[in-house]
Amino acid sequence: MSGPLLLAIESSCDETGIALIQDGRCILSNVVASQVALHAPSGGIVPEVAARAHLRWIVPTLDEAWAGAGVSWDDVDGVAVTYGPGLAGSLLVGINFAKALAWVHDKPLIGVNHLEGHVYAAWLVDPGEDEATKPQPEFPLVALVVSGGHTFLAEMRDHLTYRLLGATVDDAAGEAFDKVGRLLGLGYPGGPAIQKAAEGAVRRDVVFPRAWMGDSYDFSFSGLKTAARRIIAEARAEEGVPADDPAATLSAATTAELAWGFQESVVDVLATKAARAATAIGARSIVLGGGVAANSVLRERLRHEAETMGLPLIVPRPGLCTDNGAMIGAAGARRFLAGERAGLDLDARPSLPLATR
Ligand code: KG4
Ligand code: ZN
Repeated sequence: MSGPLLLAIESSCDETGIALIQDGRCILSNVVASQVALHAPSGGIVPEVAARAHLRWIVPTLDEAWAGAGVSWDDVDGVAVTYGPGLAGSLLVGINFAKALAWVHDKPLIGVNHLEGHVYAAWLVDPGEDEATKPQPEFPLVALVVSGGHTFLAEMRDHLTYRLLGATVDDAAGEAFDKVGRLLGLGYPGGPAIQKAAEGAVRRDVVFPRAWMGDSYDFSFSGLKTAARRIIAEARAEEGVPADDPAATLSAATTAELAWGFQESVVDVLATKAARAATAIGARSIVLGGGVAANSVLRERLRHEAETMGLPLIVPRPGLCTDNGAMIGAAGARRFLAGERAGLDLDARPSLPLATR
């Protein structure tokens, strides 16, 4: 194997991820310590709790990453770490850990934008997968990144260059999934729970609104969330479920139907706009990333749109769509090869943008 070997660290939100990545593509190891169970009782991420959990899990995560990789510090060319966007306290744990490792082992430090990581997950190759035959995204491409904190469409004409085509003007799609999941009593995180509930929908005719935002590539999900609240309240009244008792839930059949309707609305808008953008810029491929890209209905719908246009859709397996260290190693390698190095004064940038319009 050739190309740089990076130790990559991700701690921007509620997953502690550490990976060893060769050449920005090959995963030697990729370990994620999830805090989902920790945040489930509060129905959302508590930043203070998240930062402490990163501190607790980052060393065991590193130990496990080494254990499966078959390489040592001597082989490592640099340490890549997410420095934004994300929760300041969470980011600082990963950044300071990365700095200490880079300094002690005398390796260069590379700062990585978390959103760039979600895009570059498309280049990753799992152990046992054939790097030569796995399709790589071709430029120009349209990248749709949909996560718990971000939803945007960007054009890439080459590596590391982004033109923002559109972004959410209010909630991120993942945030809407999480909120509606809570309204339906499906627990946290709402995305996977809504997908699972929707699979059981028998009647598939409920229609949730879509915010098309004119001809723009922008998104808006707050109106959908409000509509969902109204539709769910009406369904509860119809089924005689007390409005003031959150523990009392709708019947499984109605929950499934509403989960399906909501998911259809989000997927329709995301896939339609991504396809339109791909046509408009003359894309040669479409890349899908971010936690919501783990959604099987979104993946299938966009695959169908891409096929219709004769374009390849590159979407990582679900475990590489949600936050992980491997994607930071993939993006970090490109930055490393471009000669970028961060100093030991690297600081957390909670609102770091990927690109401006
Ligand atoms: O990218 P990510 O792991 O963290 C952020 O950077 O935000 O994304 C987390 C988001 C959550 O909102 C979660 O509900 C959503 O991704 N998500 C899903 C699915 N799996 C995770 N949304 C819809 N369907 C899924 N299967
Ligand atoms: Zn993310």
